[in-house]
Amino acid sequence: MSDEIEFTLVMDDFNDSKKTNILEYLEQQELNVHYHCRDGFCGACRTPLVSGDIHYHKEPLAFIRSGEFLPCCSTPKTNLKITAKQNSK
Ligand code: FES
Repeated sequence: MSDEIEFTLVMDDFNDSKKTNILEYLEQQELNVHYHCRDGFCGACRTPLVSGDIHYHKEPLAFIRSGEFLPCCSTPKTNLKITAKQNSK
């Protein structure tokens, strides 16, 4: 059984969180996103984007497939719906 969930990130909640990128916000929400460089180079944080628009701080160097984005170097332009895993406690 998969522990993946669809998570909705609401713009207002992101802005209130004072986080500088979506990865930091997802970590605060106790969602499990793999990462390594945290700067758009490695692609380890690739995450499925179900709906919504994001903005990259700078164009990432990592390969991204259609329907994915890099939360470590992006902020939301709209509410987002993503697929992520919940941290197991
Ligand atoms: S953690 Fe390396 S690209 Fe996001």
